[in-house]
Amino acid sequence: MSRLDTVLYPNEGGRKNIFFSGKGGVGKTSMACITAVQTSRKGFKTLLLTTDPAAHIGNVLDKPVSDKITAIEGVENLYAVKIDQKKATEEYKENILKDAEDKFDAHTIMAMKEELDSPCTEEMASFQKFIEFASIEDFEVVVFDTAPTGHTLRMLELPMDWSKQIQLKAGVSTTISEADQKQKELFDKVMDMMKDEKQTTFAFVMYPEKTPIVEAYRASQELMTLDIKTQLAVANLIIPEEQAITPFYQKRRNMQLGYIEEIKETFKDAELLKVPMLEDEIKGITMLKEIGDQIF
Ligand SMILES: Nc1ncnc2c1ncn2[C@@H]1O[C@H](COP(=O)(O)OP(=O)(O)OP(=O)(O)O)[C@@H](O)[C@H]1O
Ligand SMILES: [Mg+2]
Repeated sequence: MSRLDTVLYPNEGGRKNIFFSGKGGVGKTSMACITAVQTSRKGFKTLLLTTDPAAHIGNVLDKPVSDKITAIEGVENLYAVKIDQKKATEEYKENILKDAEDKFDAHTIMAMKEELDSPCTEEMASFQKFIEFASIEDFEVVVFDTAPTGHTLRMLELPMDWSKQIQLKAGVSTTISEADQKQKELFDKVMDMMKDEKQTTFAFVMYPEKTPIVEAYRASQELMTLDIKTQLAVANLIIPEEQAITPFYQKRRNMQLGYIEEIKETFKDAELLKVPMLEDEIKGITMLKEIGDQIF
């Protein structure tokens, strides 16, 4: 296997998670879809999962995608799902309050309700869904399309906040319920998997321009504080050589080539994937397959 292959495909009988992160609009969703189509075609049962509240993987695949895992017609082994943040939050609140009803008085429950109306609850609910999907053992590859940069990092830091929420759930009593204990074990398991570089690949998508490189580098440094290394750098929207036939495009392409060198230096330990600028928007299974053939 080439080094790129080891970053993309699981070991014999193993599992591979691939996260696509990066600044807004750089091509995360497109890359996640191209990659998931590719790993499925290689024969790996693949789940494409989006944690972006504004997700449009359904548009890119040109197939319906909902908050239930759905087989994608036209690609064997490919399944997709999106986390519906609103719905997840409602479910999460309902569960906590239902649990609380048997345990606490009306006053405490009112206080809990107020406490639960915070952005933290939304994050926790999405994270719990994420954990739920990420821990399904049936899939050999899970590809994550994430929201612009900060969001993913926040998700990964959430387990630290988890204990606070658990305390809230436990209310006045200090013991952790059996269900919560199970939940915590699941959290720990998924976090261990994400920190294991053999099982999980973090990819940063950027264009070969200064700002996206700087931002990706900063985010990758933040990941390092969580012991997570960046293993793949994607340089997207490269002007094809055969199109650089006017002085304008020649100049721009040369600028890009300079920045590609900078990406190589900045992400020394990562594999580099180069993706050309295409004449059409990225959409539909046929196109996703073609791009995969071209870039991998
Ligand atoms: N190599 C490419 N060639 C042509 N168009 C591209 C290329 N890569 C991405 N695009 C287009 O750029 C737009 C943004 O891409 P995409 O949605 O994948 O970015 P994103 O990083 O997921 O954005 P967001 O941060 O909003 O989630 C899309 O319309 C997509 O079709
Ligand atoms: Mg996106």
